[in-house]
Amino acid sequence: MAIIKPHIGIIIGSTREGRFGEKPAHWIHKIAAKRQDLTVQLIDLRDHKMPFFEEAAAPSWAPVKNAAAQTWAETLAPLDGIIAVTPEYNHGPSAVLKNAFDYAYKEYIRKPIGFVGYGGVGAARAVEQLRLVAIELQMAPTRSAVHIGMAEFLGIWQQGKTFEDFPHLEQAANALLDDIVWWAAVLKQARDAK
Ligand SMILES: Cc1cc2nc3c(=O)[nH]c(=O)nc-3n(C[C@H](O)[C@H](O)[C@H](O)COP(=O)(O)O)c2cc1C
Repeated sequence: MAIIKPHIGIIIGSTREGRFGEKPAHWIHKIAAKRQDLTVQLIDLRDHKMPFFEEAAAPSWAPVKNAAAQTWAETLAPLDGIIAVTPEYNHGPSAVLKNAFDYAYKEYIRKPIGFVGYGGVGAARAVEQLRLVAIELQMAPTRSAVHIGMAEFLGIWQQGKTFEDFPHLEQAANALLDDIVWWAAVLKQARDAK
């Protein structure tokens, strides 16, 4: 098999003022950027200010008309896989991240997706919901994920600790990246063969 170096997008799934989300996003981006088996791009939803979904048709039926959503789709198109860095709001994902999923369709199909979640239970409930959303978008969610639980989350956010104080997180990040790269390479080859 030819060596395929997939291009992975890391999406920051929170846009609120004072968000924690950029810390884990920058952290996993740095780990991913050191690897030779992928290329990586950080994608900030603050740069994609889409209204709450208001198109006349679902993107699976008709191209979106909103200009910011068109740019969003153009950003997604070259990606071979996604890592979504997600908070948990009321046991679900942030509205802004779900909205971003709703605003495109074909750009997601047959690509892997993995998650970095943070919060009281490492955003496990939000991640499970997002896996179901991803399946409807014809993506392949990985089993591996990074869950930054209460102790690590509060330690890094409020107690001066760093990600390096919790080495199991880097292990989980590399396991996730291994999975994403495997699926992204296989699925890219299959997409390209069509
Ligand atoms: C509207 C709202 C709902 C929240 N609900 C949860 C929750 O269900 N579970 C949880 O672990 N944390 C919850 N939190 C706390 C978040 O984990 C914490 O605010 C985190 O910093 C949010 O991510 P962000 O700073 O990147 O936006 C909630 C926060 C907000 C603003």
